[in-house]
Amino acid sequence: RENPLVLGIESSCDETGIGIVRGRTLLSNTIASSMDEHARYGGVVPEVAARAHLEAMGPSIEAAMAEAGVTFDELDAIAVTSGPGLSGALMVGVGAAKALALATNKPFYAVNHLVGHVGADILDTRGEPFDYPTIALLVSGGHTSLLLVRDLVGDVELLGETIDDAAGEAFDKVARILGLPYPGGPQIDRAAEGGNPAAIRFPRGLSLPKDMAEHRYDFSFSGLKTAVARWVERAEDAGEEIPVADVAASFREAVVDVLVTKAINACRDLGVPRLLLGGGVVANARLREVATERAAAAGVALRIPPFSLCTDNGAMIAALAAQLIMAGKQPSSLGVAADSTLP
Ligand code: KG4
Ligand code: ZN
Repeated sequence: RENPLVLGIESSCDETGIGIVRGRTLLSNTIASSMDEHARYGGVVPEVAARAHLEAMGPSIEAAMAEAGVTFDELDAIAVTSGPGLSGALMVGVGAAKALALATNKPFYAVNHLVGHVGADILDTRGEPFDYPTIALLVSGGHTSLLLVRDLVGDVELLGETIDDAAGEAFDKVARILGLPYPGGPQIDRAAEGGNPAAIRFPRGLSLPKDMAEHRYDFSFSGLKTAVARWVERAEDAGEEIPVADVAASFREAVVDVLVTKAINACRDLGVPRLLLGGGVVANARLREVATERAAAAGVALRIPPFSLCTDNGAMIAALAAQLIMAGKQPSSLGVAADSTLP
């Protein structure tokens, strides 16, 4: 079927995202975030996120429908993120999508959140979609994954992922150590602007020769976080004033260096001259800069979707389902459940 009209629901973390697309055309993309409610805990609290999704779901769907100017009757399918993510949060979206599919008698598509991030790029907001195969680096508060995408609707391979904290989570935790508010990513990014990235040499996780054999495309940020905590503790014990800008810049440099090095390695090793970025950490100024420089040096075409499509959103889920439909893929069974550990 050509250019199906699809409503997509995303609720894997703290964003209730509803997107409506017609094929590759974006009609609406509403996002309600419960981030403010998590701020005082310094991180996303699953129970709080799930309740916020429940409250936001109905109004968000109505708002997205109104903005797109379509009726339920006109929809060709309902799509939803079924995983990975926070279980309670996912269940709210999956429940809402199934209810909507049943009530409107439309096909139901349960899709993978990470593949959805790759799907964000096919929306026509910047002309032609990226060619495949491509390497995709997805970095957010919930995930840090490196994918080889040969075909969006059937051949996506996980090359590696974080073995502990996600990159955004590391930013949030280090911000806390430095006394900066949540979410820490933007705070550290700003504080780092006035600092010296070479002031402190923080460790690059899983980058030693011995790690590179087994964990070539995996990431680890908990050791880095601990190194920052130790450095700050030592300085405090010595009665020194903490050079927040230098610590922020040096930490940011370590994260960005590892992310970009591993992504470009994958492009080189696998002979794939394309790299797509996604996830909230893509807002990071230094990540964009270093990725742009090193991709150019390696002859790799770099693609960064507009920021509203990089953070969690429903449009990417709808866009992926639209591609599945156009490729003739069958809908999911209504028996499919939310799966927080979906690979
Ligand atoms: O994709 P996203 O909006 O939501 C999920 O995590 O699901 O990503 C949010 C994460 C947070 O950890 C936040 O600190 C991080 O992205 N982030 C950043 C920046 N802006 C947001 N990290 C580094 N630099 C930034 N400028
Ligand atoms: Zn995400």
